[in-house]
Amino acid sequence: MIKIAPSILSADFCNLERDIHRIRTADMVHVDVMDGAFVPNITIGVPVVKSIRKHTDMFLDVHLMIEKPVRYIDAFCNAGADLLSVHLEADHPTRIAEALKAMEANGVKKAVALRPITSAQAVLPYIEQLDMVLVMTVEPGFGGQAFMTHQLETIRQVREIINKYNPACDLEVDGGINPETAKQVVAAGANVLVAGSSVYGAPDIELAIETLRV
Ligand code: DX5
Ligand code: ZN
Repeated sequence: MIKIAPSILSADFCNLERDIHRIRTADMVHVDVMDGAFVPNITIGVPVVKSIRKHTDMFLDVHLMIEKPVRYIDAFCNAGADLLSVHLEADHPTRIAEALKAMEANGVKKAVALRPITSAQAVLPYIEQLDMVLVMTVEPGFGGQAFMTHQLETIRQVREIINKYNPACDLEVDGGINPETAKQVVAAGANVLVAGSSVYGAPDIELAIETLRV
């Protein structure tokens, strides 16, 4: 089954409760955390996740685009995240392993994320303990960018690795997902689709979510 994770990066931050309510037919809320160092943009942090948690029971899929994420795992877990994604490029492998261990200790779901430059094989040391792998289909940092078609190959390779070592693991894609690219990523093996501008920019948000389920 395909799961849809609208990104609130495209929501109106002054009306976040309303805009989260608008995506209630989706499977999870995708929360983009950016630190202005790992990526050039700064978005939201721990206090906002905490506030969101008070106003929704939806699954919170928190995408950490921050350097040395191990420093903040406990804080985001305490704030109410259900799943955390840490970028493999954000720290040394031993510290990524520590971040995953901290997620495990907090009882949240664990994911690693790959920038477009990172090869599918980079997930191999972690794959057996993961609940999800996130393959970026744009350079992380901003919503509304064009889908990188060459990432279809990375998605296929990650799908092969998942099927071989941990078939229960989800494969999420993030960036430039619209009804057309959704078909392509699902054919390549993705089963969780993040979509910001194509959901929040649509005249009928509920219909946009259903259309992405392909
Ligand atoms: C980009 C973020 C995405 C972003 C996707 O760095 O990780 O989640 O919100 O936005 P769209 O769907 O507009 O490409
Ligand atoms: Zn994201």
